[in-house]
Amino acid sequence: MNILILQASPRANGNTAWMAEEYKKAAESAGHNVTLVNVAHKKIAGCLACEFCHNKGNGTCIQKDDMQELYPLIAEAEALVLAAPIYYFTLNAQIQSVIQRLYCVNKPAKVQKMALLMSSYSPGVYSGAQYEYFDICKYWGVQDSGIVTAKIDEQKTEGTKGKIIDIVKNL
Ligand SMILES: Cc1cc2nc3c(=O)[nH]c(=O)nc-3n(C[C@H](O)[C@H](O)[C@H](O)COP(=O)(O)O)c2cc1C
Repeated sequence: MNILILQASPRANGNTAWMAEEYKKAAESAGHNVTLVNVAHKKIAGCLACEFCHNKGNGTCIQKDDMQELYPLIAEAEALVLAAPIYYFTLNAQIQSVIQRLYCVNKPAKVQKMALLMSSYSPGVYSGAQYEYFDICKYWGVQDSGIVTAKIDEQKTEGTKGKIIDIVKNL
């Protein structure tokens, strides 16, 4: 399967980056083709709601920022993995920008499965993000292949690595 992991933490050595790498390693070991992109290091603005994409733009976005690099990767992805830290009880802004800029394509063309990897400091802070994620899976008609969360004492642990290896089996 062609897998695209969008890693949205600005901290290069943080836990979200570690989870994304562990997912990549596990998926590659299982024979998948994996592309991992750090979207936090890219310049991706929010959607302008200008409707250019749905009119003259014919499905293309008027904003020519780093999202242009992601559109072809997303168009080819068969599985999409969102990896993000929790900021103020939801997915961080960096991943939200990417999701909302998909307004022009509405649904990624080939995605059949999704997964969600999240980092936080505290336990019990994931419900808002999970609601959003499940609603997106439903809206796009794609299957959830699993969610792994890691609060502070679960970060970079063998236990979390095992959970990641487990959800990769659902691809
Ligand atoms: C702006 C900001 C908001 C945060 N909000 C929350 C929060 O609401 N709940 C929580 O448990 N942790 C919160 N955190 C902590 C991060 O989720 C936590 O440190 C996480 O492990 C960061 O992931 P990283 O290691 O990939 O950077 C916040 C951190 C930042 C910088």
